[in-house]
Amino acid sequence: MTATIVVTRKLPDAVEARLRENFSVMLNPEDAPFTPARLAGALREADGVLCAVNDIVTPEVLGAEGRRAAILANFGVGVNNIDLAAAKAAGVIVTNTPGVLTDATADLALALILASTRRMSETEALLRRGEWDGFRPTAWLGTGLQGKTLGIVGMGRIGQATARRACLGFGMKVIYFNRSPVGPFDFPAEARDGIEPVMAEADVVSLHIPGGVENRGRISAALIAAMKPTAYLVNTARGDVIDEPALVAALAAGRIAGAGLDVFAEEPKVPPALLDIPGVTLLPHIGSATLETRTAMGMLAADNLIAHFSGQPLPSRVV
Ligand code: DGY
Repeated sequence: MTATIVVTRKLPDAVEARLRENFSVMLNPEDAPFTPARLAGALREADGVLCAVNDIVTPEVLGAEGRRAAILANFGVGVNNIDLAAAKAAGVIVTNTPGVLTDATADLALALILASTRRMSETEALLRRGEWDGFRPTAWLGTGLQGKTLGIVGMGRIGQATARRACLGFGMKVIYFNRSPVGPFDFPAEARDGIEPVMAEADVVSLHIPGGVENRGRISAALIAAMKPTAYLVNTARGDVIDEPALVAALAAGRIAGAGLDVFAEEPKVPPALLDIPGVTLLPHIGSATLETRTAMGMLAADNLIAHFSGQPLPSRVV
């Protein structure tokens, strides 16, 4: 019998077509976010759910009376939206989409590094407001990257891809902290023995650690205070890995030079104070947002579902 799958968000056409070929599938053409009740309902109605990184799968959702779904295929590499311990306890399989979004996310980290160090958001806003009064040799000076130090916190796939681009493409020196030993790499990089030395030494810090309980607030007020006043902080990982109020305070007081943020602690809420701070680039969680990458992510989620329902090993199982 064909398995029934609920898909919580609109996905690229090719992915939806593939899901239709393999399953009895309930799509979400309006792309309306699922409430917790609708999510719990999906777990009752379907054999599997293809959910997105902003579907919050709590123990209550997983424990819903009459749950039928045995697999959650998460559309994203980060799985901090799912209570993994509760999924494990409930016997629900969780899969994710590693690897396929590495390049797109590293590209966006570089875009944020360039945007913040070259003051792109603030100067573009000025131009759009009609306030540009012509070229001036000393206006809108930013910071060059050549010879500067990039500090990577979390040297996994995306951290390495970001470091490689910065080092080989922009001539930056790379230092990093990773929980477990990694390397060697195909570019020069020096390990540090903690996050603090990376934050203190780097001209630009780029975060690539997973979100979730384990890393919540990991980039603390004290670590932000350890940064140079000329340094920039870039985050394409998860918003909650930073003590967000402490970052806002540091930026507002000019204790660090700027930031490039693609993720926020309580998306889609953005701390209002950030909107008024020049030198900060703010993006709406678009790290993996290319058609190619979002299609590849959907296909990998579909691969996991197809493998599960045909009794094959799962390509990327988390729980
Ligand atoms: C992920 O995959 O975790 C991203 O944040 C969503 O693209």
